[in-house]
Amino acid sequence: MPVAFPAIAIPKRLLMGPGPSEVDPRVYRAMTQPVVGYLDGVFLQAMDEIHAMLRAVFSTQNVATFPLSGTGSAGMEASLINFIEPGDEVAVVVGGVFAARMCEMVGRCGGKLLRIDHRPGTTADPDQVRQAVRGKNLKVLAVVHSETSTGVLQPLEPLKEIAQEAGALLVVDTVSSLAGVPVQVDGWGVDVCYSGSQKCLACPPGLAPITVGERAREVLRGRQKPVQSWYLDLSMIEKYWGQERRYHHTPPVSMLYALHEALRIVLEEGLEAVWARHQQCHRAFVQGVEALGLRMFVADPAARACTVNTVHVPDGVDDARVRGHLTERFGIEIATGIGDLRGKIWRVGLMGRTATPELVVLLLNALESALTANGFACPRGAGVAAAEKMFATQPQ
Ligand SMILES: Cc1ncc(COP(=O)(O)O)c(C=O)c1O
Repeated sequence: MPVAFPAIAIPKRLLMGPGPSEVDPRVYRAMTQPVVGYLDGVFLQAMDEIHAMLRAVFSTQNVATFPLSGTGSAGMEASLINFIEPGDEVAVVVGGVFAARMCEMVGRCGGKLLRIDHRPGTTADPDQVRQAVRGKNLKVLAVVHSETSTGVLQPLEPLKEIAQEAGALLVVDTVSSLAGVPVQVDGWGVDVCYSGSQKCLACPPGLAPITVGERAREVLRGRQKPVQSWYLDLSMIEKYWGQERRYHHTPPVSMLYALHEALRIVLEEGLEAVWARHQQCHRAFVQGVEALGLRMFVADPAARACTVNTVHVPDGVDDARVRGHLTERFGIEIATGIGDLRGKIWRVGLMGRTATPELVVLLLNALESALTANGFACPRGAGVAAAEKMFATQPQ
């Protein structure tokens, strides 16, 4: 007996949470192109272009620069397991959930973990990190650039020096920062850097761009034993992305069309212009929420990631009801906190296509409506007025 399931019918949402974020219509269109074989000349050409565009976005000359088939966590796992062997000392700077995930992965591949915690909502103090790694035989220093669970942007330059002093590889997560704020892989001495397709790149989730410098490739070549994950073994994957074109696994062809188009869009606008737009929208959003009487979770403005904006849920206000109002009345999705911050903060993504003055204003309007409906008295129109003033006085 044939069984008829209904086709999926997804309502239109405006994705203003910490990811996935809005997908560009051009990206959706690119994904509908016919699937071809993984060695088709047209496809290989597209791969070369993805490689070139990713190098531009990561600001690197690294030959080993390509997207991994998998989400941001695949990027994270590949960036750790390829370089860590049992017993290797690995330091992870931890200020939130995603850095804690790195620690879990280090443990699973037998690394000797040195966990350097700092208070969520603040950046790590380089002196504390330097002190913690002193005298260690460190193989890797790992850090999250934009900690999506807290909204903190960690300055990387001081950590570069510490990694170099310790003779360790610097591994950096840029899942919620790449193509939203400056990322200078070569300039900052980052050895391994990965990201995800679904945040500032305005692509669906499913790919994890990664770039691996020469020092790290040497470590990979010098391993005692093969990487325990066959699928994420970078030494094999790079042979498909490099000149040899050696088959490793069937690439997710349609997702690669998507990434190709997403990268084209970013580079057409220009990286500087993209960063300036994210910065401007973040500033206006902060002015707006503060004018509504809300408080940012990251107290120090200089420590805030402009891509993931975190706001305290005010006392007496029900986090879920406010988010429900935003979704039901306006189709807008924002997120609550994760881990210990669940129900305590809102996470607002101004990433890629949602980092626009129009959407910042729309969200502030919707937020005012949701807060008022939930018993929080905010000055009428103040949020939008503050943001609009900011957009008018500090145009991009
Ligand atoms: C900073 C950071 N790292 C890693 C990840 C994991 O990525 P994914 O959920 O795509 O596997 C995320 C996801 O939000 C993230 O924000």
